[in-house]
Amino acid sequence: MKKLIRESILRIQQYEPGMPAEVLKGELSLKGEFSKLASNENPLGPSPLAVEAIKKSLEDGNLYPDNSCIHLRDRIAQCLGVPAKNLGVGNGTTELIFLIGVAFLNPGETFIMSESSFIMAKIVAQIMDCNLIEVPLKDYRHDLDAILKMVSDDTKLVYLDNPMNPIGTMVTQPDVSRFMGEIPEDIIIVFDEAYFEYANKENFPDTLRFIQERRNVIVLRTFSKMYGLAGFRVGYCAAPEDFIDALNRARPPFSVNHFAQVGAAEALRDEAHIKKTQEITESGKRFLYENFESMSLFYIPSETNFVTVDVKTDAQKIADEFKKRSVIVRPLTMYGKPTFLRVTIGTPEQNKKFIEVLQQIQMND
Ligand SMILES: Cc1ncc(COP(=O)(O)O)c(C=O)c1O
Repeated sequence: MKKLIRESILRIQQYEPGMPAEVLKGELSLKGEFSKLASNENPLGPSPLAVEAIKKSLEDGNLYPDNSCIHLRDRIAQCLGVPAKNLGVGNGTTELIFLIGVAFLNPGETFIMSESSFIMAKIVAQIMDCNLIEVPLKDYRHDLDAILKMVSDDTKLVYLDNPMNPIGTMVTQPDVSRFMGEIPEDIIIVFDEAYFEYANKENFPDTLRFIQERRNVIVLRTFSKMYGLAGFRVGYCAAPEDFIDALNRARPPFSVNHFAQVGAAEALRDEAHIKKTQEITESGKRFLYENFESMSLFYIPSETNFVTVDVKTDAQKIADEFKKRSVIVRPLTMYGKPTFLRVTIGTPEQNKKFIEVLQQIQMND
């Protein structure tokens, strides 16, 4: 039967999502609390304004959703100052990355990204049978000069997750301006800004400007992180109108459900939830940094809601030890960093528990 399957599909290293909470409860026979710090979710839960609006809209569940997501696109347009015609919505950013592959990539075209960037981009390049080039990071950041050197006549697309997952670093406005000045204009540049809301805005590149300038740029953002709507599946992109049209042609009808649209529109204006999330993220990061320093563990200062730390031993084994103690974290083994562990900033209690368990594991080592 295998011979019926496209070879490029069989070569893919499958995406490994964090385990769903219900499965974890079953597997660990947990009666009490556990800390799920492996998927960069919002530990405060969904935006309360979103939840209220979704509850009110439940009775509309018999109706197909608005395929054009017009109300949500209008809200995003207001927020970003970008015309709604330049906005597309998808079933999470993950769907949009997939659709970019389907809509733009031909077999054999070159797809450039950094080594150990968000793995979904690599999967899409593999699905579309592209020539995938993964450029090593420099000082744990995208090496934009090295990426420019890899560009050739066959290059179709460069994917940059900024801030990047799973490392948490970002490239800044001057870096990106220079890069955009040098890269040939016919190459599509995807800026995946899933963690935009957490990043330090002082030096964050204004990528929406490139769309006004009619560059071949797609900016991706998500409602899964800051807005706490990961389970509803909704993300958006800003891009030239022709690109939005192409993505919509490739998108399965009604891929963004009604409740996701209603919730996302409200979450955008839930300033209290956003502020609270930003505050606990910042204080949580400081807490983790201080503890890593006192444990002499190398960590990478992060522009996101997670931190990557070098545990100086097999991170998979350490993650297994954490799991036994009801804390779920992500080893970066599949990203080629076998001693690095990625931990999502949780509530103050979850962060404290994470550090306590890390200390226990280190003492037993
Ligand atoms: C860089 C990056 N892009 C996209 C996503 C996927 O987001 P979504 O939940 O919108 O599919 C993630 C999720 O972890 C991510 O880290």
